[in-house]
Amino acid sequence: MEGIATMKRLNDKVAIVTGSSSGFGRAIATSFAAEGAKIVCSDIRREANPEGFENDLRIPTDEVIRNAGGEAVFVACDVTKSDDVKALFKAAVDAFGKLDVMVNNAGIYRGGKLFHEMTEEELDTCFNVNVRGTFLCSQEAVRQFLKQGRGGNIINIVSTAGLGGHPRQSVYNISKGAQANLTRCLAVEYGKDNIRVNGICPTYAKTALTRAFYEDKGFDAMFVESIPLKRWGEAKDVSDLALFLASDESGYIHGDLIKLDGGEQLCRYSV
Ligand SMILES: NC(=O)c1ccc[n+]([C@@H]2O[C@H](COP(=O)([O-])OP(=O)(O)OC[C@H]3O[C@@H](n4cnc5c(N)ncnc54)[C@H](O)[C@@H]3O)[C@@H](O)[C@H]2O)c1
Repeated sequence: MEGIATMKRLNDKVAIVTGSSSGFGRAIATSFAAEGAKIVCSDIRREANPEGFENDLRIPTDEVIRNAGGEAVFVACDVTKSDDVKALFKAAVDAFGKLDVMVNNAGIYRGGKLFHEMTEEELDTCFNVNVRGTFLCSQEAVRQFLKQGRGGNIINIVSTAGLGGHPRQSVYNISKGAQANLTRCLAVEYGKDNIRVNGICPTYAKTALTRAFYEDKGFDAMFVESIPLKRWGEAKDVSDLALFLASDESGYIHGDLIKLDGGEQLCRYSV
């Protein structure tokens, strides 16, 4: 039997998490660290998002991890900028010597309007972060994994929005649809190199990104009613699944886009 110290689920794995200063990214980074991973926290800003729902709002995620006895560094990176992304991967390998898991979590929402009212600026901004950001970070991750020659693991935080249509968020949905299909393409190309690639597709969960929805009492009631489990998603739901996908327990799960939606797909939307 292995010793207790070697029994953590991500022991000694090195993970980069983008968008780690808020919501899902913060939950993923801290839960990975609790299971023994060394974390490269990354975001456009280090301080925790004041719009979030966490209690320890102002403490940066890397500091939360180190305070709890884990290992983490913070590297500022705008995922839309290739120079930033290259510098992020160099800093990660400089800090911890290798990379095992890449979590493409950084993302933004644009919506609240019908398709014909959407602007080019909204289209470009949303695509830049959600598609170009995932593209650039995945490219660097694959390059690093191939260089190491031991495989790797990419987890894309997609959305149920990437799997179907929703009213008044066409720009967001098509960006998430592209991210979903990039997940499939990478899985097809790099499975032979033992690089696993999967996507997590949550429905609405309570984070800074969805605060406007959550605070809208009408939407809140309608949404909860539409979910068979009768509650919003939580950041922990996402980090629990990410932890499983990052661990060796999910070793034969590849190219999947896993819905995390409380049974929502069983229901119908109306505009
Ligand atoms: N909250 C939901 O209901 C929900 C549902 C499905 C999918 N998602 C997806 O989950 C991911 C995380 O969302 P969240 O709800 O935690 O949002 P959030 O707003 O709480 O956190 C997103 C983080 O990404 C960072 N970020 C934004 N642009 C960036 C950039 N250019 N470079 C680097 N970092 C950047 C932000 O600073 C922020 O810290 C996103 O991809 C989002 O589309 C969210």
